[in-house]
Parts: sequence; C-alpha cells; structure tokens
Amino acid sequence: MSNNENIVWHEHQVSKQERSKLKKQKPCILWFTGLSGSGKSTIANAVESRLLELQKHTYLLDGDNIRMGLNYGLGFSDEDRVENIRRIGEVAKLFVDSGLIVLSAFISPFQREREMVRKLVKRDEFIEIFIDTPLEVCQSRDPKGLYEKARKGEIPNFTGISSPYEAPDKAEINIKTDKMSLEESVEKIVTYLEKNGYFSGE
Ligand SMILES: Nc1ncnc2c1ncn2[C@@H]1O[C@H](COP(=O)(O)OP(=O)(O)OP(=O)(O)O)[C@@H](O)[C@H]1O
Ligand SMILES: [Mg+2]
Repeated sequence: MSNNENIVWHEHQVSKQERSKLKKQKPCILWFTGLSGSGKSTIANAVESRLLELQKHTYLLDGDNIRMGLNYGLGFSDEDRVENIRRIGEVAKLFVDSGLIVLSAFISPFQREREMVRKLVKRDEFIEIFIDTPLEVCQSRDPKGLYEKARKGEIPNFTGISSPYEAPDKAEINIKTDKMSLEESVEKIVTYLEKNGYFSGE
C-alpha cells in the first residue's frame, strides 16, 4: 500500500524463507509490554543472551534507545506514543523479513497499538509477552527514579500514574516477576519458542 501512485513495491529475489533457513530459525517478534520498571529490558536482555548461546540471530529494540535515534523528537502524548509504536512495528516487521528473532521492550500501554503491530505480521510471528508486575512493586523498584519524579508531578503522562496502562487479555506468555526469578522467566520464554518450532528453519 502507498499514499503515492508513483511508488511501486519491488519484489525481492531473496525470500524471507531463504533468509530464515540460513539462520536455522523461524523469525518472530517477542513483544514485551508492561509498566515502567516491570522488567521488560531486564528480561529481554537475558532472553537475547540465552538465544545467542543457542546460536540464534536476534535484535533487541529498546524504549529509550529508539527514542534517542529513530524516534527522536517524539514525546509521550497519546498521539506521539501511537506514532512511536507504529514506527517500531514497521521496523520490527522489516527485521522479521530479514529472518531475525526481534525482541522489543516498550511499555506500549495501549491495546489498540499492540494489535496494530500484531496485524503487521503473520499470526505466529507476533508473540505478546506481558510482564505482569503490580504497580506497587514497580514503584518500589523505581530503577530510573521515574516514579519518584512522576509523584512530584515532574513527568506528565507517566504510565500507571497519570496515563493509563491497558493490560493485555490474550498475551501468548505471562510473566509475573514478583513470583518468578529472572532465570525462570527466561526459561519460560525460551521453552515457548522451542516447543512452537521457532528454532528450526523452514
Ligand atoms: N524477577 C525479575 N525480573 C525482572 N526484573 C526484576 C526482577 N526482580 C527484580 N527486578 C528488577 O526490576 C527492575 C526492572 O527494570 P527494567 O529497566 O528492566 O524495567 P522496564 O520494564 O524495562 O522499564 P522501562 O519501561 O522504564 O524501561 C530492574 O532493576 C531489575 O533488576
Ligand atoms: Mg526498559
């Protein structure tokens, strides 16, 4: 689809299937969602390290890093959050096409935007991982000191405080970090991938 009649999609000679086969894996997006401080970056990093050990080809897209580059200039209004996720979704889709297992660690508070990304790729290429950590636990961890600042009114539109978080109701994987260790969480995610055939090229 294009918004310009002079733009024409060019079919590539090398296919996603061929790129994936070479990497001996089935590409997908591991979409981590959850409150700030819930553990998305911590778990996504640990999963990526484990996948590297298993000789899998990955790329991690993480919130703050993307906002420093590709999405520089986007803020935290509802409108900017939607555009933030839309761009990340499109980048993740390209990486899936390249044959990678993509990990994305963004709060992504709105159900609709997560569904938008889910629809960008094939059914089994989007794996939603809900990092289900209670707000009180996130607040007590406060690894970046952001809840403290938000409480003082220094951060407008802060998810969980002054901006909503819509929890997923049909995530493929649920992780309760107040009940599970980091190692158990990694194990749960990697086992899911293994059982569902993501570690063999088509
Ligand atoms: N079981 C656990 N799993 C993951 N993180 C844990 C766990 N127990 C404690 N933590 C701690 O919780 C914090 C999670 O912070 P992290 O930066 O990963 O959150 P985040 O979801 O990426 O937040 P943000 O949206 O602000 O980037 C870390 O300090 C981590 O050490
Ligand atoms: Mg993070």
